Amino acid sequence: MKQLIQVLSAVLITVGMLYQFSPQPNKEQNLRDWCTNFDGDNGCKGSQTDNPSDWLNRNFQTPQKGDSLWREGYQDYHILQGYAQQKYSSDLRSCSISIYTRVNPEYQGSLVYSFDGEEQTSPNKTFSAPRSEVQIKVYLRAGGEITIAKLDLQPVDFVWNHPTVNQSSHYKNGQKGAIVELFGWKYEDIELECEMIAKAGYMGVKVFPPQESILDYEHPENGELNPWYWLYQPVSYRLNSRMGTVEELRKMINTCQIKGIESIRRCCCQSHEWQWQ
Ligand SMILES: *[C@@H]1O[C@H](CO)[C@@H](O)[C@H](O)[C@H]1NC(C)=O
Ligand SMILES: *[C@@H]1O[C@H](CO)[C@@H](O)[C@H](O)[C@H]1NC(C)=O
Repeated sequence: MKQLIQVLSAVLITVGMLYQFSPQPNKEQNLRDWCTNFDGDNGCKGSQTDNPSDWLNRNFQTPQKGDSLWREGYQDYHILQGYAQQKYSSDLRSCSISIYTRVNPEYQGSLVYSFDGEEQTSPNKTFSAPRSEVQIKVYLRAGGEITIAKLDLQPVDFVWNHPTVNQSSHYKNGQKGAIVELFGWKYEDIELECEMIAKAGYMGVKVFPPQESILDYEHPENGELNPWYWLYQPVSYRLNSRMGTVEELRKMINTCQIKGIESIRRCCCQSHEWQWQ
């Protein structure tokens, strides 16, 4: 009897699977088998998504100044985009900043990098403690004088200006321990909870990607919230988001570090690749 039940279940499961994977006439039912999600817009080959390399130029579809969709955070992104990468020495007392940029191939010019108002042609500069934060701008210039586009980066700050986290060795330097996800929480509210989170034995708190991301006014007008996954659709490298401003983010991280809590930001990159920070 037991064997019969086993055989019958196997047959039923097989029939179920065959039904599930057989071609369905209904487009909606079939969606789960497609790799496309924007009307064939994704480079779909079977079950693989393989985007053509010229898609990189879609970066420059950002609305430009004068366009009704332009927002302040977009700056001149339709021509010039970039970010600062920080690399610290092992003792964390010195930091090299490298600026990585992309220029719309339709525009010609030379790049000039400004660190606290001092201009140079190299994208790199090294700073040492006790330096305070640095203002960074990049200019695309034609003929050495006319500015075609300007990029104003989020000021870069350094670890030596902030408290370090003091955690039990059980956490193995941040490698082992529980973290609590406070997705969608405002930074101010997380800051209030950090002491409690530490006492409850957590090693860290995880928040949504902090970049400025798309928002629209259509959803709230219809009594709807902007969807959570829009936090994963960044529009700039600036760290002002619906969870709070960059100052509130920094204050939350500092307070939590003092309380012994690490803050783990989900990082969302333009290539739609994931990375843990
Ligand atoms: C700037 O720094 C990057 C990363 O360290 C390096 O690859 C690049 O060669 C440097 N560029 C210049 C002009 O020094
Ligand atoms: C870190 O925390 C431990 C345990 O609470 C404490 O004994 C130690 O003094 C702290 N160290 C620093 C540098 O604050």
